[in-house]
Amino acid sequence: MKTVVIYESLFGNTHLVAEHVAEAAGLHGEVVLVPVGEATSEVIDGADLLVVGGPTHVHGLTWSATRHAAEAEAAKHDDRTLDPDAEGPGLRTWFHGLGQVHGTPAAAFDTRFDGPAEFTGRASKGIGRRLRHHGFSEVAEPESFLVDKDNHLLAGESDRARRWADGLVSRLTAAG
Ligand SMILES: Cc1cc2nc3c(=O)[nH]c(=O)nc-3n(C[C@H](O)[C@H](O)[C@H](O)COP(=O)(O)O)c2cc1C
Repeated sequence: MKTVVIYESLFGNTHLVAEHVAEAAGLHGEVVLVPVGEATSEVIDGADLLVVGGPTHVHGLTWSATRHAAEAEAAKHDDRTLDPDAEGPGLRTWFHGLGQVHGTPAAAFDTRFDGPAEFTGRASKGIGRRLRHHGFSEVAEPESFLVDKDNHLLAGESDRARRWADGLVSRLTAAG
């Protein structure tokens, strides 16, 4: 079982959740964890499961203006540091260059503010839609992991991310 986990992250929350996902998936087999800037087609080739996560920006996936806004915010606030892999293309651009696959299992997640998704939006929905569009078979509902207004993951979200990933991989292994 090979799981590939791809993340985009400006402030590090989605990166952290991706690490938890990779850690849980790694208990079931091989796992590759890469920032979106390093997610070449060679990295994805041979994946039995692809998990893609990104931050929610203005109700959806990031785009250049929101990425710049995040960078400006990081420059202004001492408590906001840019993730080491924040630079480079976002998921939106990555999806544009992605080819078609034939039914590879995949799942989407995001991080976003705590609150009803109708108000906050959620990037995972758009990530899931793009995965399906490229021929992936979405094997779970898009999932959100929540941060507080100070931009810290809520208590319990790390464990929930590990359980979510464990559930995904366990189901696929059992089906398999
Ligand atoms: C420019 C910008 C726009 C954002 N817009 C939203 C939003 O519409 N809804 C939401 O729930 N969170 C929003 N957020 C909060 C981020 O989704 C949240 O901080 C997320 O955990 C960031 O992930 P990262 O640390 O991996 O970059 C926004 C953050 C930034 C910087």
